[in-house]
Amino acid sequence: MDTVLTGDRPTGRLHLGHYVGSLKRRVELQNNNQPKEMYVMIADAQALSDNFDNVEKVRSNISEVALDYMACGLSPDKTTIFIQSQISELCELSFYYMNLVTVSRLQRNPTVKSEILLRGFKQSIPVGFFTYPISQAADITAFKANIVPVGEDQLPMIEQTREIVRSFNTLYKEVLVEPKAVLPENETCLRLPGLDGANKMSKSLGNCIYLADSADEISRKIKSMFTDPTHLRVEDAGHTENNPVFTYLDAFCRDEHFSALWPEYQNLEELKAHYRRGGLGDSKVKKFLNEIIQEELRPIRERREELSKDLGYVFDMLKKGSEHARKKAAQTLDEVKTAMGINYYR
Ligand code: TRP
Repeated sequence: MDTVLTGDRPTGRLHLGHYVGSLKRRVELQNNNQPKEMYVMIADAQALSDNFDNVEKVRSNISEVALDYMACGLSPDKTTIFIQSQISELCELSFYYMNLVTVSRLQRNPTVKSEILLRGFKQSIPVGFFTYPISQAADITAFKANIVPVGEDQLPMIEQTREIVRSFNTLYKEVLVEPKAVLPENETCLRLPGLDGANKMSKSLGNCIYLADSADEISRKIKSMFTDPTHLRVEDAGHTENNPVFTYLDAFCRDEHFSALWPEYQNLEELKAHYRRGGLGDSKVKKFLNEIIQEELRPIRERREELSKDLGYVFDMLKKGSEHARKKAAQTLDEVKTAMGINYYR
């Protein structure tokens, strides 16, 4: 039986990039009928590794992320949603895994390298941050997850985890499971651009549509989206590639949207062809995109609003999820200590 684990750092609300890149997929995975164990973790301890001076930011975003999860359709009946810091076994596992990883191996991790640059740590890299790939290996192996649905930037973490698993199993005993990363199938979903079209959708760049945005905010953001800068007049021929309006249509638009909303075209290819020929204005395409995104996000926003009225329920769900997750992690930790020969009293 498959065991699926993934998670997010609670440093902000989740946005459309998270939605197409992973949330949608997780919900589909949760709801398909294949038997599996599924865990989704709010990685607050990892978020603290570069926000230790801003605990409030991490703390306050735990419920925001939990609301986003549940609004998208993750259900506590089928998925164990839990908070990383509540599972102290993860720290213990990390401590033993640290022996299996060299400093130079950590220095080669491309994601950590670029994060260090981005955060301007230079020579003053906090040890906790530098070693978070080890703690992520603990997150994954504690649950014996074999499937880890993630974005591309997380591939080095999965590779590091696999190396730790192989070292541990060879050195001590075959206890841990090698995980496999699962990426979104389609290129567009792998890296949804931001409203500016120049970068990936990212909170720090202010180019996001959030799952919690109001209908008005969404319309305003879509109206202000970057398009093809050479498409000055309606008659001009336009470019659809590197044009985020069309990239979002690639991600969200289905043929049914045309029959329901814009019967002049049969499908996205026809719309694109018209835009490329010239004679199609950006505002019309944006209006169409707006209707599609509104339709997709409306039920999510409404569920989110409903759920946010009872945060007591949300935290209760997280507490139960964390208790359940902790049992599994404790079981693995016990096997790990036995394999290492450090369970002395039995
Ligand atoms: N590193 C992930 C992120 O930045 C969060 C994370 C922590 C995670 N532990 C994990 C993801 C384990 C998958 C598996 O979003």
